Amino acid sequence: NGHENAYENILVETRERVGIITLNRPRALNALDAATLREVVSASTALDADPGIGAIVLTGSEKAFAAGADIKEMAGRSAPEMYLADWFAGWDAFTRVRTPVVAAVSGYALGGGCELAMMCDLLIAADTARFGQPEINLGVIPGMGGSQRLARAVGKAKAMDMVLTGRHIDAVEAERAGLVSRVVPAADLLQEALDVAGTIAAKSLPSVLAAKEAVDTAFETTLAQGVHLERRLFHALFATEDQKEGMAAFTQKREPRFTHR
Ligand code: CAA
Repeated sequence: NGHENAYENILVETRERVGIITLNRPRALNALDAATLREVVSASTALDADPGIGAIVLTGSEKAFAAGADIKEMAGRSAPEMYLADWFAGWDAFTRVRTPVVAAVSGYALGGGCELAMMCDLLIAADTARFGQPEINLGVIPGMGGSQRLARAVGKAKAMDMVLTGRHIDAVEAERAGLVSRVVPAADLLQEALDVAGTIAAKSLPSVLAAKEAVDTAFETTLAQGVHLERRLFHALFATEDQKEGMAAFTQKREPRFTHR
């Protein structure tokens, strides 16, 4: 249905209402170069615009979700070049995707790989996953939001530990810290992610988008304003047929048949 375009560094497929983007640059452990950024943004934006898609899964290979931004591509650049190109700013477009994105992480999620996973809405890890912000070992710091999203996800203590030492954490520590929502055996990772995405894609889309917007707002605003926005979104959903259908189905003890999916 038009999503399986010829990309160089990613694979794109759809299964019913779920879009799947697979990072596929094995020779560089899926290092995120400028071309990969363009492709991920292009594919996710196209899936987002498709009313037939209700959730997206972003995954990598067994060995690496992504081993970071492409170090070789950046190494020789000057500060003015980085500044004028606004290096990494292109990823902001990925965070503007409204369709929920489930990251399925196996193996290394380091530097920009960890940061890309944290841009997703829900993070599922294989027991082989390793997360880290090793930029400090390169004489730099995270540049795709790691210092901010890690601090919000796991708190100051662990964020400082990871960002200052470059230490990797395994899937168990990542779950304990609240970075990932589930850990599954590596062999089950994609199926688990597809099940979660399929579950989300079966709901009424307006309520899914409102739910994502409401939770995201918790990280951008005061408690009072966040609670206010949530209540207004809640009220607005009473304008949908799916609210009537969902509540009628509950009282009639049957499954809802949502229109907006
Ligand atoms: N950029 C460019 N190339 C990379 C890469 C990266 N981030 N990570 C791995 N590669 C390349 C390697 O150079 C190697 O290529 P060659 O075969 O041509 O030498 C290939 O991928 C395979 O990697 P290794 O041989 O190193 O594999 P390994 O199993 O021995 O080690 C690893 C795996 C521990 C993940 C190691 O590759 C590694 O430390 N990678 C770099 C991790 C890192 O520092 N990430 C942060 C990048 S900076 C950043 O992300 C900035 C930001 O905030 C956005």
